[in-house]
Amino acid sequence: MILSRRQFSKTLFAAPFVLRAQQEPLRAHVKIDTERVIGDIDPKIYGNFIEHLGRCIDGGVFEEGSPLSDANGFRRDVLDAAKKLNVTILRWPGGNFSSNYHWKDGIGPRDARPPRLEMAWGTVESNRFGTHEFLQFAEMMGTEPYICANLGTGSWQEAQQWVEYCNSSEDTAMTRLRKQNGRARPWKVTYWGLGNEMDGPWQMGHRSAEDYGKFALEAAKLMKWTDPSVKLIAAGSSNFGPGSDWTGWNRTVLEYLKTHIDYLAIHMYVGNRENDYGDFLTSSLELDRRIKTTEGLIDAALSGQPGQRRIYIAWDEWNVWYRARGAKERGRRILEERYNLEDALVVATLLNSFINHAHVVKIANMAQLVNVIAPIFANEKGLFLQTIYYPLQLFAHNSKGKALALFLESPRYKTRRFDDVPYLDASAAYDGGTLVINVVNRHRDQAIETVFETQDKQFSGAVDVAEVNGPDIKSENDFDTTNVRTIQRTTKADGRQLRHSFPPHSYTMLKAKLA
Ligand code: AHR
Repeated sequence: MILSRRQFSKTLFAAPFVLRAQQEPLRAHVKIDTERVIGDIDPKIYGNFIEHLGRCIDGGVFEEGSPLSDANGFRRDVLDAAKKLNVTILRWPGGNFSSNYHWKDGIGPRDARPPRLEMAWGTVESNRFGTHEFLQFAEMMGTEPYICANLGTGSWQEAQQWVEYCNSSEDTAMTRLRKQNGRARPWKVTYWGLGNEMDGPWQMGHRSAEDYGKFALEAAKLMKWTDPSVKLIAAGSSNFGPGSDWTGWNRTVLEYLKTHIDYLAIHMYVGNRENDYGDFLTSSLELDRRIKTTEGLIDAALSGQPGQRRIYIAWDEWNVWYRARGAKERGRRILEERYNLEDALVVATLLNSFINHAHVVKIANMAQLVNVIAPIFANEKGLFLQTIYYPLQLFAHNSKGKALALFLESPRYKTRRFDDVPYLDASAAYDGGTLVINVVNRHRDQAIETVFETQDKQFSGAVDVAEVNGPDIKSENDFDTTNVRTIQRTTKADGRQLRHSFPPHSYTMLKAKLA
């Protein structure tokens, strides 16, 4: 067949065009300016949490009599895996558990401690892991302890005496008791929570915002008068369900407590109940919204206050949690969520969000450390690292210093909840000449070729690349399989430009020197 000139050129160009249209790589462009600082990244955003819940403490960090534990009952393998996460602040004893925890049950000789009915999660609490065990565990981990006081069924005096027991150097009945129990020096615990999720009807001792505000204020006064150096964290919103007035709760609580607290705690768990990958990957956009709204409420509460008083956000429970959830979760083997690659990517985007709001989010605690919605999964024989362990570890070890505001141009998509979502999600940290860029490619099927361009400095030397990925978005790890983990290599950058192709469904950390 002989083609006319027109037909020939149509065929020649049309076919490759169709081919090109299918294969055209997605491209993104990011500008980096080390002078465009959002704020100082507080290392305490890499916190974690252990609660007397399921097998987090009993059978998690603490297993008396196990060959894997030391003489005090601490699981050596769990401690080791936890240390590698670089946990900067550890919250305890709950969670919902804290709202009926009477700390004096958990001190003194272990065998003499009273077992109590545990109503939050439907077990019996042995009290064999108490204040001394927690603070010793925190010391062994090299982490800052954070104790959540019982403002549910507890009293003002109980909260005040807990601070006195832990922190006072005076000779008092409380400090004599501490010494009698084997600890001469005070521990000096700085971070204290004024109750947990007091806005939730599920909470033991749940109150209205007004009642909580008044009650917490009296506790706060006594705790600060006992030790003025303590930092107090009020229970902000955790109940975002239909009909809940989460902004109203925060507004009222801030009004009562604004002169006494240092942080407002907020909680957020996300999930993929609809099995909608694209939408699930936008969970961080919801987090961004809640941070911005809460920041506005804090600013409003502090407006007109004399001096430089600041209140920060403590995101002291956050994670993916939706499978092992609901009324059936009562007893010992509960909340044992198994994580996959898409969960790990969501965790990376939530961490990006904390960094992108570094000026106001100053504490964050992943919930929880072991077995219970956790990055570490242990049984009586050993442990494995869940998918979410890997992004958390990379962030905690590398993303420090100043958070930078990035200019990011990326292809976008639409979901059930959001109309305009960038496929690339990123944050950047700059610390003494080292630049760390964290990037999630939300695209399930396509790589995104990206050019990073520095505005004020030059790349110098090799760039470390650490990528968390796996065969499929649903890939999980187990005791004998590690499908999702960090793979490390190096690449090169040239002058002001760094080019990198981010594979589909991946989280990548790039670490470069700037000069
Ligand atoms: O982390 C699990 C539970 O989630 C905590 O006990 C509670 O504070 C929240 O609802």
